[in-house]
Amino acid sequence: MSSFVEKLRTIVGDKGLIVDDQGKHPYLTDWRDNYLGTALAVVRPAATEEVAAVVKLCAAEKVAIVPQGGNTGMVGGGTPHEAGREIVLSLNRMNRVLDIDVIGYSMTVEAGVILKTIQETAAQHDRLFPLSLAAEGSCTIGGNLSTNAGGVQVLHYGNARQLVMGLEVVTPQGEIWNGLRALKKDNTGYDLRDLYLGAEGTLGIITKAVLKLWPKPKDVATSWIAVPSPEAAVELLSGANSASEDNVTSCELMSRQGVDFVLKHITGAVDPLAERHDWYVLLEWSSTRARREGQDGLREKMEAYLGEAMEKDLVLDAAIAQNETQARAFWALRENHTESQKREGPSIKHDISVSVSKIPAFMTEGLAAMNRALPGCRPVPFGHVGDGNLHFNCMAPAGWDKARFMAHHEAISGAVYDLVVGYGGSISAEHGIGRLKVDELAHYRTRIELDTMRTLKRALDPQNIMNPGKVVRV
Ligand code: FAD
Ligand code: MLT
Ligand code: ZN
Repeated sequence: MSSFVEKLRTIVGDKGLIVDDQGKHPYLTDWRDNYLGTALAVVRPAATEEVAAVVKLCAAEKVAIVPQGGNTGMVGGGTPHEAGREIVLSLNRMNRVLDIDVIGYSMTVEAGVILKTIQETAAQHDRLFPLSLAAEGSCTIGGNLSTNAGGVQVLHYGNARQLVMGLEVVTPQGEIWNGLRALKKDNTGYDLRDLYLGAEGTLGIITKAVLKLWPKPKDVATSWIAVPSPEAAVELLSGANSASEDNVTSCELMSRQGVDFVLKHITGAVDPLAERHDWYVLLEWSSTRARREGQDGLREKMEAYLGEAMEKDLVLDAAIAQNETQARAFWALRENHTESQKREGPSIKHDISVSVSKIPAFMTEGLAAMNRALPGCRPVPFGHVGDGNLHFNCMAPAGWDKARFMAHHEAISGAVYDLVVGYGGSISAEHGIGRLKVDELAHYRTRIELDTMRTLKRALDPQNIMNPGKVVRV
């Protein structure tokens, strides 16, 4: 075995090193099976000091590092290249919750903690950590922060970036930056924390974080609503903000096609409404004010609001969850969109955003553009309409294999992204750039933006050993 690998073993021990092909395989491919890379080794350090020592060794031996958390990323950011001198550095052994400050509403965790564990730990202390996405059972907080993840509660609590007070990071030189300050205000020079949030592992390795917590909601109302159009959905959301007294915590839009894929592929999935409709909204309101005997809670307020909306033809039908089980069943229909599309066949994802009020017009033009680009393709738009973020996905025509479909990738994505940029929108709302969208970023972002990103990357990682080839090429 090479002396480099033996030096790794000296740092992380046998438990922290995987060199056999079978053991490495799960770390070398991405959740969407778009890429299959190679790695000299998969390294699983148990502590920050080990991460630092591994990085120092890689810097000395000019071996590149691909940081990896739960490996649920959608853009290949955590997957090594096919050929090259790279290691995968997985944070999945650094999975301790280090401290929870209930009075100060903060939690200190290692980067490898699974998101669901963080949510559950907060709830056990009557607190809320609001980041929530369908991958929460396997994605890690390090990956969430590194991709500035969004999910289904952004419209009320913000993206991952807004949920962090402090970070600990290992730099490309193997230095440990301890920025684990639990401060709500700290204006001391450049905001180094913000540099690493959303950098997708290209500027350093997040090893710990101080997270913000919120009071745990005491009253939640969830409804599954059939609407006549995306326009009605946006109008319904707009009114809901005041009707709920600013307690809208989720608003997800789905199409019939997406719901049909879930009903087809996910056991136990049931359509909550008797009739089939073209568009659906999952609307959730949450309040830290407990329901009071004899007084209307959020469910009653939501029922009244939906009744008024029905009078205005914004709502065709609706089911309001009467208990947690029913609410979970509504959420399962939404959260299984990604998994069911994977089972259906090849898809091209467009994780885009436009301003909320432009969603209806974009939807009309975007669907037409997709169908022109490939007649017979199966558009399946859905997502976080409250953030102006659509997963404007396109499934292959039934029966097409991936190669045949991907031959149309350029025509379909070019049409969609040109339209998005024409609407002043973003070609990546929450999934990041990774490897998948490096060319699109270089095409759609301005020279000054790209030059500034490259200058940053060169300054912080002059050897280009931190996740090279992701986000920007230098
Ligand atoms: P990985 O996939 O392991 O890595 C992601 C990126 O972060 C890579 O570039 C990697 O190099 C880097 N990285 C990982 N850990 C670290 C670290 N400690 N320090 C520095 N860099 C690191 N995303 C959303 O934003 N919103 C959604 O609603 C959403 N829904 C999803 C639904 C499903 C079913 C799936 C499979 C994915 C979904 N995603 C969503 C995408 C994905 O879950 C997120 O991008 C998530 O934040 C990735 O976390 P991870 O731990 O899996 O990171
Ligand atoms: C989600 O919101 O479920 C994912 O980000 C969307 C996708 O898988 O395209
Ligand atoms: Zn999403």
